[in-house]
Amino acid sequence: MRYQLTPIHCRPWLLNSFSLKLTESHYENNYGGALRRLNAITEQLEKLDFANAPAYVINGLKREELVALNSTLLHELYFACLGGDGKVVDPMAEVLARDFGSYQRWKDEFVAMANALSGGSGWVLLNYLPRDRRLVNQYAAEHSQAVAGGVPILAIDMYEHAYHIDFGANAKAYVGAFLRNVDWKAVHQRYEDAIAVPSLRPLVQEEFGDLPGVGPEDVKAMIDSGQHVQIIDARPQHSVARTQDIMEGATWRDPERIREWIGELSKSEPVVVFCVYGFHVGCRVAEQLRDAGFDAKYMKGGHSAWKAIGGKTKMHA
Ligand SMILES: [Fe+2]
Repeated sequence: MRYQLTPIHCRPWLLNSFSLKLTESHYENNYGGALRRLNAITEQLEKLDFANAPAYVINGLKREELVALNSTLLHELYFACLGGDGKVVDPMAEVLARDFGSYQRWKDEFVAMANALSGGSGWVLLNYLPRDRRLVNQYAAEHSQAVAGGVPILAIDMYEHAYHIDFGANAKAYVGAFLRNVDWKAVHQRYEDAIAVPSLRPLVQEEFGDLPGVGPEDVKAMIDSGQHVQIIDARPQHSVARTQDIMEGATWRDPERIREWIGELSKSEPVVVFCVYGFHVGCRVAEQLRDAGFDAKYMKGGHSAWKAIGGKTKMHA
């Protein structure tokens, strides 16, 4: 397979403060160089006898392939970011204000991150995280660092080759010039494309239908706010026996003997019940308590989730 060239997306003669010499050199030598290197590495990989090749040869080629591939992709994004008037479009300013406080706050962070890379090399990327449905400015000191699953929508190249022809060592001036050339309409279009990427699918436990669950953070917030809540640790006896800790404020009750302890609970206060990981044991207990008329929910992720958020535990008797 050969990777194909992507034509330059911005019109180099329209760029503010960037000479044709700089942009042509960047596109032809650095973007083109990465693409040519990527194809040369690919050719080597295609010929490689993987079953007999030494590990260092495989590691070396695959590492160089990653660097060249990311360099190729990021340069394509970089040139697609330029060619605008640098004026942020309203819908993009609103998104940046939502995720960073204000457009200015985003810009201060982005510029400071780029300036902090000057004299070195790397990238600063505005990256969309489907998991959290938000944007984050990402530092990348090498072509190969990428936020897993992130979708970069704006990229500034801080390798010296991106500016030395016009700006010498004055990387700050380059960062300013880059921002004056950003095509924000195109950035916003990429943002709209990025948000169409789905996040990791949520955990579904079909057998429990719409049984209400509550996240460990919410349980912690209920406790911290002083809300009266009955917390039942319904981990099976054999699970409790192999651990020494129990969520602070929780009372252990054997999930096999609900009838023996259900009478101790109050119907006027909510009940949160959990098992080890938040699967069937906790759900089944919560279901039985709801059937008996209690305002019961299971804690998502169970005792492990509680510990994972740093929730307090104590030694159990
Ligand atoms: Fe570059």
